[in-house]
Parts: sequence; C-alpha cells; structure tokens
Amino acid sequence: MGNVFAVTNQKGGVGKTTTTVNLAASLAENGKKILLVDLDPQGNASTGCGINGVVLEKSSYDVIMGEAPAAEVIVKRDDFNFDVMPTNSDLTAAEVELLDEDLREHRLRLALEPIRADYDFILIDCPPSLSMLTLNALVASKGVIIPVQCEYYALEGLSSLLKTVERVRQRANPTLEITGLVRTMFDARNNLANQVSRQLITHFERKVFHALIPRNVRLAEAPSHGVPVLDYDRSSRGSIAYMALASEFMRREKS
Ligand SMILES: Nc1ncnc2c1ncn2[C@@H]1O[C@H](COP(=O)(O)OP(=O)(O)OP(=O)(O)O)[C@@H](O)[C@H]1O
Ligand SMILES: [Mg+2]
Repeated sequence: MGNVFAVTNQKGGVGKTTTTVNLAASLAENGKKILLVDLDPQGNASTGCGINGVVLEKSSYDVIMGEAPAAEVIVKRDDFNFDVMPTNSDLTAAEVELLDEDLREHRLRLALEPIRADYDFILIDCPPSLSMLTLNALVASKGVIIPVQCEYYALEGLSSLLKTVERVRQRANPTLEITGLVRTMFDARNNLANQVSRQLITHFERKVFHALIPRNVRLAEAPSHGVPVLDYDRSSRGSIAYMALASEFMRREKS
C-alpha cells in the first residue's frame, strides 16, 4: 500500500480526474513509473488518456471482481509515459455485485498486490461518492489526495469524507493518511475563493499543497484530445501548476 494514492472527494466536478491524469503525467515526466487506475464508472480518466471504454474487452471491473489479474487489464502504450488500468460503465455493476462478496472492501488492495512493486506511484481516480468503489480505493491506499474547489460548500462535504477516512483507518487500514488537499480551478481574483482557501489552511495547515491549480482552459480542453495537458500545451498555466504539484508530492513522499 506504500505507493498507492486515492484521489477522492465525493463532491462531483471538483477536479479529481483532471488532478489524477495530470499528476500522473507530471510524475511520469519526472521519470517516475506510474499507474493510473480508473475506478469511476464514468470512465473520464480513461477517455482523458485516449482510451475508448466502449471497446474495452477487460476493465477495472474485471479486476475488482476477481475475474482478471491486474496485469491483463493494464494498458501500456508507446505514446504515453504512464500505464492506465481503464474502465467503462460496466463498473457500475460492481457496486451491487460486491455487496455479496467476501472481503468486498479489500478487492482492489488484493488485486494490486502482484503489480504494486512495478510502479513508483499508483494513483486511483475515484467516483463522486463514498461508495463501495471508493472504500476499495481507501483500503488499498497509503494516502488520500483531496482536490477541493474553493467555493461555498467545499468544507461541508469534507467532514463526511474525513469521517469515512477515519472509519477505514479504524477497521481496515490503520496507516491510511491524508496526503494533502489540492486547491483546484482557483481564481485569485475571486474573494470567496481566497476566503475558502484561508479556511482550508486554518483547518488543515501543512496538509494543503502550496501548488495552486488555476482555472485554465487548456486543462479543460486536453481531455477532448485524449491527452494530459503536458502533451497538449506544455507551457500552459495548467501544465506548470501540475508540474509544481508533482514536485511537491515527490518531496512529501520522500520524507
Ligand atoms: N483547473 C481547471 N481549469 C479549468 N477547467 C477545469 C480545471 N479542472 C477541471 N476542469 C474541468 O472541470 C470539469 C470537472 O473536472 P473533473 O472531471 O476533473 O472533476 P471530477 O471531480 O473528476 O468530476 P466527477 O466528480 O464527475 O468525477 C471538467 O470539465 C474539467 O475539464
Ligand atoms: Mg472524475
């Protein structure tokens, strides 16, 4: 579990997938061996990496249900410098099917075990819910990366996420930690954004990453080309921000 990180926040549209894809690409740019696991039935991380879920023969659904080993599902491509375990809407069924399974919250952890040592870091893109899939990600992880959009309801949702993390710590994964909170889609001219950002720092102190991800149209455009922003516009503010986040993440994970 030492190198696995869940990118999660049950609030929708806060930048989880954008953070997972672009942090993965930025870490890979630094020479790290990276696996991105798409654990959201929406499959946005898969399409954002140019993988069409509709034609997938096997996906993270098969991995989590124990029907295929992770190594068989992982996509390695020459044009990308990181690997992807893709998914599609099949994964929706796992929510219900897992309820009847033994070790249902441990499925992903067990499935990643044989390939974990092949990677420096494994990043899991979670769905916008505190569901069985998210629980699987939390049980499999060393740390939690929480993207937060600095707006009015941002802090409210965080308390139930933190309670879930605490429950997982007590029951299944005692060393699970909050790696950090990432402020996403940040607009420094917006007073509310600045206010919420200050509140986050008051509550979470050093857990808030210094790297601020600005609202940047290049970050929103890149997925429609099936590539991370680094491959779409290297010099964009979005690329620079995610490279800064990757540097900070690597520094934290060394200490
Ligand atoms: N920094 C940014 N600047 C501009 N647009 C962004 C930025 N981050 C994310 N977006 C856009 O905002 C939308 C939501 O982002 P994203 O899909 O990453 O959120 P999410 O938390 O994964 O959503 P969901 O909860 O549905 O999985 C997307 O259209 C994305 O392209
Ligand atoms: Mg997403």
